[in-house]
Amino acid sequence: NKQMNIAIDGPAGAGKSTVAKLVAEQLSFLYIDTGAMYRALTYAALKEGVELTNGQALNHLLNGLTITLQHEKSGVSVLLNDEDVTEVIRNKDVTANVSLVSSHESVRLEMVERQRTLADKGHAVLDGRDIGTFVLPDAKLKVFLTASVEERARRRYEEHQAKGIVSDLEQLKNDIAKRDELDSTREFAPLKQAADAIVIDTTTLSIPEVADSIIELAKERA
Ligand code: C5P
Repeated sequence: NKQMNIAIDGPAGAGKSTVAKLVAEQLSFLYIDTGAMYRALTYAALKEGVELTNGQALNHLLNGLTITLQHEKSGVSVLLNDEDVTEVIRNKDVTANVSLVSSHESVRLEMVERQRTLADKGHAVLDGRDIGTFVLPDAKLKVFLTASVEERARRRYEEHQAKGIVSDLEQLKNDIAKRDELDSTREFAPLKQAADAIVIDTTTLSIPEVADSIIELAKERA
């Protein structure tokens, strides 16, 4: 891979996607939201009634699915075959089940192949859980974004409020902690900080501050 790739990993709600989008925009890189791909598969599996503990069945389903991250002026839309699933893949049901779906090795191997193909197309920012450790171990820049679980829950709560979704802060905190636990304890390619990743604790930082530091680092390494 001859492209300049930036890997942004970290736990749920650390601000990865917001920051990654901003960095990609400012550097004119592609933004590849790998979580959206696992979410799209989870949405399809729930819709089709595929058993989520059955990796083989999920992989079979995935093989028939085209997941497109479509870049538009207004942002990135997620298409599942021809269906726009940008919004629906963020719902509660998908969020509660995505860690189970993404724990299967066969599912991950297929997703990782697709992600590497996308990353080969141009300079790109990828965000996820295993980008620096598994998808692109040779990425030019690896960032691991963290924040306290309280702060991450508080941000989600505010996001929900802004969208008019009623939620419970304590419940959000529990859900986030549970997803991190599942993602970091799975056997194959778990959520883990790469040895050569730069850790940024975003608890007390603004989104532009985080994006700017990443852009600085990227320029140093270009
Ligand atoms: O980033 P986001 O919160 O949308 O990711 C949703 C879920 O997808 C994660 O909780 C994790 O289970 C899975 N995921 C993954 N590997 C990635 C990206 C996401 O396992 N690279």
